Amino acid sequence: MQNLTPTRGAVITGWGTALPNKVVTNDDLAATLDTSDDWISERTGIRERRIGGTTSGLAVEAGALALQRAGVDPSEIDLLVLATTTPDDQVPATSSKVQHELGLTCGAMDINAACSGFVYGLVTAHGFIANGCDKVLLIGAETLSRITDWSDRSTAILFADGAGAVVLESVDGPGQLLGWNLASMGGLRHILHAEIGGHLKMEGREVFRQAVVAMCESAEAALENAGVSASDVSLVVPHQANIRIIDAAMKRLGIPRSKAAEVIHRTGNTSSASIPLTLVDAIDHGRIAAGDILLLVGFGAGMTSASAVIRWGGHRP
Ligand code: ACO
Repeated sequence: MQNLTPTRGAVITGWGTALPNKVVTNDDLAATLDTSDDWISERTGIRERRIGGTTSGLAVEAGALALQRAGVDPSEIDLLVLATTTPDDQVPATSSKVQHELGLTCGAMDINAACSGFVYGLVTAHGFIANGCDKVLLIGAETLSRITDWSDRSTAILFADGAGAVVLESVDGPGQLLGWNLASMGGLRHILHAEIGGHLKMEGREVFRQAVVAMCESAEAALENAGVSASDVSLVVPHQANIRIIDAAMKRLGIPRSKAAEVIHRTGNTSSASIPLTLVDAIDHGRIAAGDILLLVGFGAGMTSASAVIRWGGHRP
């Protein structure tokens, strides 16, 4: 893989999120499952999650907010990329519904790279901008509650619904993306999977073990690709699967734990939506300033992993 030599880069100019109204606490789950708030909080960091809606509905809500924040009219968007592993329908792609409902006039496609989907989409969006698109809307949206077996305590405590979106606009020169890495270990796809029409099945301990390794290898490859070191990173925006996975990955990467952004306590694992939900939360809480170097890192079923190193611009081009 070569280092980046783009002549036409991109910056994020707008962002938005959507969460269903229905809050499901750990105590709510403990009412029907053999589990407890203490167990879930200690083992995962999750205290509550949001459940409900449709993937397209959440995507439209988050996408509209991102367009509004960027001050971009729907007619100006050149491409919609929707990262999701829980599409509304088998066919057509959920992005076609979102494209119509947002009033976009551009091409639209879904990307399924499980919980790495948003970063896969981010790299894809940059590729299209390097090749001529001016404005791309990227959304990560999920309704994992639809494929969760609510009688299985090993998975029901983890998964939830939500969406996050960003608008990317072209700039002359390299833009925000300093380096990236996309990976997949398809031989491990059996450790986390859902058949068509079925529920998520997971070998939790093995996913945990593989996730830490995959996240760190991907992050290190992206940092090397960007030509920056771990100590240059201002904030890590990790996929929100389990607080202990984030703890272990930060330790292994040698980045202080305080530099990890997190929303898992209130969102659970929202797969493709988790990184944009975490990014926007960090922006809203003033944790990101212009010039900061961010490391976005995800992993998920597949086993996919994906990292992007971004120098935050925070301004309109
Ligand atoms: N409540 C109470 N006890 C439980 C629960 C529960 N919800 N679930 C499991 N237990 C019990 C087990 O039965 C076991 O009991 P035993 O010791 O008597 O046999 C004990 O708790 C320990 O079980 P483990 O599975 O070893 O627990 P662990 O500490 O590994 O935590 C967990 C389980 C939270 C699932 C963890 O393995 C994990 O987070 N794995 C990664 C999951 C993940 O990241 N998935 C998403 C990937 S991203 C994507 O693509 C969607």
